[in-house]
Amino acid sequence: MKSIITGASGFIGQHLSAMLKSMGDEIVTLSRKDFDTEKSDLLVRKLEGANRIFNLAGASLNHRWTHEYKKELFNSRINTTAKLVSAINKLQTPPALFVSTSAIGYYPSDGAYIESAEVSTPTFLGYICRRWEKEAEQINPGTRLVITRLAPVLSNDGGIFPAIASLFRYGLGGKIGSGRQPFPWIMLADLLRIYRYIIEHSEIKGAVNCSAPDITDNALWTKFLAQALHRPAPWVIPTHLLRLVLGERAVLLTEGQHAIPYKLEKNGFVFEYANVCDALERLCERKTNLTHHVLEY
Ligand SMILES: NC(=O)c1ccc[n+]([C@@H]2O[C@H](COP(=O)([O-])OP(=O)(O)OC[C@H]3O[C@@H](n4cnc5c(N)ncnc54)[C@H](OP(=O)(O)O)[C@@H]3O)[C@@H](O)[C@H]2O)c1
Repeated sequence: MKSIITGASGFIGQHLSAMLKSMGDEIVTLSRKDFDTEKSDLLVRKLEGANRIFNLAGASLNHRWTHEYKKELFNSRINTTAKLVSAINKLQTPPALFVSTSAIGYYPSDGAYIESAEVSTPTFLGYICRRWEKEAEQINPGTRLVITRLAPVLSNDGGIFPAIASLFRYGLGGKIGSGRQPFPWIMLADLLRIYRYIIEHSEIKGAVNCSAPDITDNALWTKFLAQALHRPAPWVIPTHLLRLVLGERAVLLTEGQHAIPYKLEKNGFVFEYANVCDALERLCERKTNLTHHVLEY
């Protein structure tokens, strides 16, 4: 099988490539340079013969969200997806599967939501997710579309966890504000199992919440992480201080969404890491090696 991946050089993309290779797939990676060109026929040619396409491209959220950078956050997702879908729709033989990324920032930060919930989230991230998904939905009906709404992905190898764990190891851990905001998460190992599950279960279509079922709040997460690391986490970090230091992207920590993985569980997917304590224990084990996770597949 031929798999195409955009954003393959990133944290998730590298692990997804390794997993697909271990399944025997031929991998073709597309970088942002492939989307810079106006010559869409070059892109179409690269896509020819693809059986499945995974769209992970997007500039990192982990920079100050200036006006300029917000444009980059938007364009790197929405324009890239639009160009990709337009090229896919020109293929004589369409791929069987197109998996495009979104995030649980699609949902508001109050309430709990399954995939079919009708929401209008009046935030920058909500807007990006909506537009990102809209572009993916332009794919021709001959291709199965799955939109993975990702929670923050936990691993020692990338994403938000290493930086948070370092602060806790230095005794600088603490809850943020009231600590009552949801802290959604998913282990990388489970996310990779979900990609495989999507490949193997053609009945899974449309939006899929990729978030562990055991949603905790920030205060409990802080307590469990401190326990797993055997470190104190006595501080309360005021939200206004975080806003001062991080700017608008502080919302990633001061707010959180509760996305229920309804479609996955209804279709029989079982999370290996459903419980936050088990996940944190696993992450905080000494010599945790993510290669091991990939090899588990
Ligand atoms: N990690 C998480 O916890 C998480 C949670 C929710 C959603 N997501 C989404 O999942 C996707 C993959 O996440 P990740 O953690 O693997 O991200 P990542 O490590 O930052 O990688 C993203 C990839 O996107 C490409 N990219 C970066 N800037 C770009 C730009 N300006 N224009 C076009 N492409 C650009 C890069 O590939 P090239 O250098 O090859 O172009 C990069 O390797 C992202 O879209 C992210 O928003 C991630």
